[in-house]
Amino acid sequence: MSSGTTPPAFDPKNMPFRRLGPTGLRVPLFSLGGWLTYGGSISGDPVKEIIKTAFDAGINMFDTAEGYASGKSEIEMGRVVRELGLRRTDLVISTKIYWGPKGGPNGNGLSRKHIIEGTKESLERLGLDYVDVIFAHRPDSTVPMEEIVRAFNFVIEKGWAFYWATSEWSARDIEEAYHVAEKLNLIAPIAEQCQHHMFHRERPEKEYLPLYKKYGLGTTTWSSLAGGLLTGKYNDGIPEGSRFKSTPQFYKDIVEKKPEGLEKIRKVKELTKFAQEELQTTPATLALAWVARQPNTSTVILGATSVEQLKENLKAVELVPKLTDEVLEKIERILDNKPAPIDTYSRLALDPLGRL
Ligand SMILES: NC(=O)c1ccc[n+]([C@@H]2O[C@H](COP(=O)([O-])OP(=O)(O)OC[C@H]3O[C@@H](n4cnc5c(N)ncnc54)[C@H](OP(=O)(O)O)[C@@H]3O)[C@@H](O)[C@H]2O)c1
Repeated sequence: MSSGTTPPAFDPKNMPFRRLGPTGLRVPLFSLGGWLTYGGSISGDPVKEIIKTAFDAGINMFDTAEGYASGKSEIEMGRVVRELGLRRTDLVISTKIYWGPKGGPNGNGLSRKHIIEGTKESLERLGLDYVDVIFAHRPDSTVPMEEIVRAFNFVIEKGWAFYWATSEWSARDIEEAYHVAEKLNLIAPIAEQCQHHMFHRERPEKEYLPLYKKYGLGTTTWSSLAGGLLTGKYNDGIPEGSRFKSTPQFYKDIVEKKPEGLEKIRKVKELTKFAQEELQTTPATLALAWVARQPNTSTVILGATSVEQLKENLKAVELVPKLTDEVLEKIERILDNKPAPIDTYSRLALDPLGRL
């Protein structure tokens, strides 16, 4: 991958590493992803600067997908990794299969045909022989689970990926994949790439609880800033050049000032005050550290359109240990949205998370 010069060695600095689910793979507590950004809203040298800044700060995991910017995200991120001359063994690279850029009746979803063809095309765009983790970007109820599990196992046997995982699958779908894999003596998914932030908690904090316990499921969390909302940048309107301006369709409750959107802004204002006064930090840093501090988070995938944003977000590494139970309790009082524990119907819960 190097152009002849000695590749820069990876230095994890102060970045903590966690196992990804039940595997031996270690991932940095904060990783970096390319949705709506690399190959989309920005490309060229700025992407290179951001990825270099991340790598220099201890981030060696990069996430993309065949569907991001119709394949351009993979091209852009692959190009940058090559141009920086990073050693492949230092990196953990993940991509996701579901929304193939070419479309057509067999160009999307999780048929054996698309999983295999999509993976090969992703690798071509990335310019890599393999990715470390390949995700099923969504569940596909039109394909038998056995076909999906067998196809991802084929991808692993071919050496195109080391592990497979899911994204935005229900606990029921993940359970089914585990049972099919177990019955057929195949490899099961290792992690879920789930939305997890202060305003989106039910699934990662409650629905998946039995899966963390039974299978050691890992999580690679996305939109942990709620697309930027939790930075406080939308507290007084929608700034030019921001994501809510360029892709309003994803953030309708804020853009259209719906009551639930206004309630979120009210809470972000309170969180901003809390972050500044009690922790001498920014709401962005606090929001990211908060997800990293959750007991079942493996890695928080950051998103950033500038080096400055990334640097601010990386301050979360230092903040995580400062989020004591007492601080978390104060945050709960502001959020007021903690998922109710799993009902045990008068049986005592056996652990503080309400897991049985
Ligand atoms: N599996 C899935 O279905 C799925 C879905 C979504 C994302 N993901 C993954 O998760 C990654 C992260 O998701 P995300 O980009 O939505 O994360 P996010 O952290 O919620 O949002 C990132 C965006 O917020 C803004 N921002 C970030 N830091 C900021 C700061 N310090 N100050 C002000 N603004 C800041 C930037 O947008 P602007 O500068 O443009 O405003 C940035 O692109 C993606 O790249 C992708 O790899 C996966």
